[in-house]
Amino acid sequence: TAAPIALSVGCALGQSGTTAAPASLLGRSGRPLPIPPLAPSTVDAAGTRHFALSAGTGSSELIAGKRTATWGYNGSVLGPTIRARRGEAVAFTVDNALPEPTTVHWHGMHLPSRFDGGPHQTIEPGGTWAPAWTVNQPGATLWYHPHPHGSTEKHVYRGLAGLFLIDDDVTDSAGLPNTYGVDDIPLIIQDRRLTADGALDESDATDVGLLGDTIVTNGIAGAYLPVAHDRVRLRVLNGSSGRLYNLGFADDREFHLVASDGGLLPEPVPAKRIQLSPGERVELVITMRAGVDALLRSFPITDRAGIAPADAASFGFDDAFDILDLRPVAALTAGAALPAALATVARLDPADAVAERDFEMQWFMINGTRMDMNRIDFSPTVDTTEIWTVRNVDNWPHNFHVHDAQFQILDIDGTPPPAALAGWKDTVYTPPGSRIRLALRFTDYTDPTFPYMYHCHLAMHEDQGMMGQFLVLQPGQLPAPMRMDTAGA
Ligand code: C2O
Ligand code: CU
Ligand code: CU
Repeated sequence: TAAPIALSVGCALGQSGTTAAPASLLGRSGRPLPIPPLAPSTVDAAGTRHFALSAGTGSSELIAGKRTATWGYNGSVLGPTIRARRGEAVAFTVDNALPEPTTVHWHGMHLPSRFDGGPHQTIEPGGTWAPAWTVNQPGATLWYHPHPHGSTEKHVYRGLAGLFLIDDDVTDSAGLPNTYGVDDIPLIIQDRRLTADGALDESDATDVGLLGDTIVTNGIAGAYLPVAHDRVRLRVLNGSSGRLYNLGFADDREFHLVASDGGLLPEPVPAKRIQLSPGERVELVITMRAGVDALLRSFPITDRAGIAPADAASFGFDDAFDILDLRPVAALTAGAALPAALATVARLDPADAVAERDFEMQWFMINGTRMDMNRIDFSPTVDTTEIWTVRNVDNWPHNFHVHDAQFQILDIDGTPPPAALAGWKDTVYTPPGSRIRLALRFTDYTDPTFPYMYHCHLAMHEDQGMMGQFLVLQPGQLPAPMRMDTAGA
């Protein structure tokens, strides 16, 4: 069977025989897909699960045969996959061995704002941060990444990102492939551009930020995955700065979407394409056929609403890439059929909403202002439902991400969302001219001092200030934000 291949530090991955990865995989390229190792943890007497992360520098072979200076957690690029159960108390020590301040944000996680890892939770070089909380949300594929204000794009681009999987009784018994690295495959998709000598090219940002012409999956270009099971689950993260992907298979086969950002969908959704904007995740299940490669590809973006044809190319919308070649071994192990139902997703009732808020996205700004670490934009009351209307009034693509709470999309331009977008989400694509209404509910945690963020997840836009902050307060509680010294930030 296909054993998981550890994401190794250093150059072991470069020795699998072929030279540079061809532009197209065409089924016969490269190196086996690295599987990020599961983060080791220990459980103390009180039942708290402890993890240790260290952000540091290193080098890796994004492209076979070329050394590239990269950053990673507990290694040279990316980070281990963190795995915890709903109901479990988790605690981290996060060390910063980088030459500059960073933070670690738990994207998609419901947790106290002081442990959210946003721009207020800076870890100085040589410093340590120790967040702890109890996981309390549905099983899902989340991720973690740096969030230092103004430098998020650079830190993620250099390699700092990892997955955070939450398990619960529902995901355990859903009947989906669930052997990590064997038939349940983590897949972090990113685009990179390298200079002739193999360094990351961080110059020449487009209006959507850094766009690369090399696609890396779990840290390498040109990967293949030997597959021994007829049913395979891919947990896909778009970990890119500004690139959208329109995923499908080269032979146009149908697959089934089983989860969105915040957890399982009510039932599998058949699809031939799924679009992912930066920060979004999707879980999908494909059926392998003996002797036939399944070539995962990104097709040109077809959702071009509001994008001028002349601009589409500069946003990368015309690009197509082969991403991962799934190669069946000679004899496939048969798995269970896909279940008809997956999870109950209780609908938030917009009639319960006590507040409605409007967000207008345009040119590095939300509602006409750029991020200010010392400005609280608004403060929802805990245990209330709100409706947020997000409008992209720009001619650039943007998306919208909210910390702490998973949301539900009520409608897109007045129409209920397609099934793929009808589950829990924390990030949604907002094409130019679109108007998207979200229902959200902030629960459990209040803090007058430390805010949560909402922002465009095109990392360059976020760095440029397309972000705001909110406090979740008890009824009648007054904001008491900490004054940040942002000089030089
Ligand atoms: Cu994934 Cu505020 O970010
Ligand atoms: Cu986030
Ligand atoms: Cu944007």
